[in-house]
Amino acid sequence: MKPLEGRVAVVTGASRGMGRAIALRLARDGADCVVMYRQERRRADEVVAEVERCGRRALALQVELGEPADVGPAFARIGDAFGRVDILVANAAATAFRPMLEQKAHNVKRTFAISIESFVAAVQAAVPLMQGRPGRVVAISGIDSFQAMTGHGVLGAAKAALESLVRSLAMELGPLGITVNGVNPGFIETDSSQMYVERGISQQYAEAVARVIALTPVRRAGTGEDVAGLVAYLVSDGASFLTGQTILIDGGLTILSPLNRLRAGS
Ligand SMILES: NC(=O)c1ccc[n+]([C@@H]2O[C@H](COP(=O)([O-])OP(=O)(O)OC[C@H]3O[C@@H](n4cnc5c(N)ncnc54)[C@H](OP(=O)(O)O)[C@@H]3O)[C@@H](O)[C@H]2O)c1
Repeated sequence: MKPLEGRVAVVTGASRGMGRAIALRLARDGADCVVMYRQERRRADEVVAEVERCGRRALALQVELGEPADVGPAFARIGDAFGRVDILVANAAATAFRPMLEQKAHNVKRTFAISIESFVAAVQAAVPLMQGRPGRVVAISGIDSFQAMTGHGVLGAAKAALESLVRSLAMELGPLGITVNGVNPGFIETDSSQMYVERGISQQYAEAVARVIALTPVRRAGTGEDVAGLVAYLVSDGASFLTGQTILIDGGLTILSPLNRLRAGS
């Protein structure tokens, strides 16, 4: 019997990157998966096909998380299709990379709509579908929640708010048998990290990756599978006493002092 046999997992932003790796890992562990995406239908369908190759049921569901009012109806569809939700992984995020003095009000609103308003709406819609069974909520944060990153001021604020919500939700949902935790990945090679390096800080990607690896004690970049492995633990039965925490998984990248950064790679 696989550890998540009979569970239903909803993963936002599962068409690519970390969300894809998380959905595939949960499917390998036995869960049926709802693959939420925004526009990459073909890639979401590929994830569905892979989940089905694991012998699990899967559904690709297009939801624009910038429109939080669409989240409730999406979960109603999930309820109709699967009858339950056991695991919610809030992974999707998006923002416009700009200095704070050039931020547009609509970007602040949209970034928070995706990461915060839609997360709250998803939890509110998912919890009634978890009633009577152990439930798991995992939110994907980012190091911008506690370190200043060029162009990431608004997303960093949203991620800090997300980590605060993890604690509040853990307090409220613990008595219902639902744990709520955050995962804070360091540098993970995905479409968005490449876009950030090339457009956000105007660096050559391969060179930037090599420099980050030199700063990382385990001497490699993170993968979606690294993050998915931690998520798989957090949603497992064995993690029922772990709640309200945001766990950093970064190969040690953020533990180096500024002086150690100067000599990294030497
Ligand atoms: N990559 C890193 O190094 C890193 C580090 C720390 C934290 N993170 C966080 O980890 C999470 C995943 O990052 P990633 O690098 O895997 O991202 P990614 O490869 O850019 O994928 C983003 C996913 O989110 C979906 N999405 C984006 N905007 C959406 C919207 N408005 N409504 C619904 N879905 C939307 C995308 O759907 P479509 O494919 O359909 O567009 C896609 O599935 C994010 O929360 C990010 O902030 C990433």
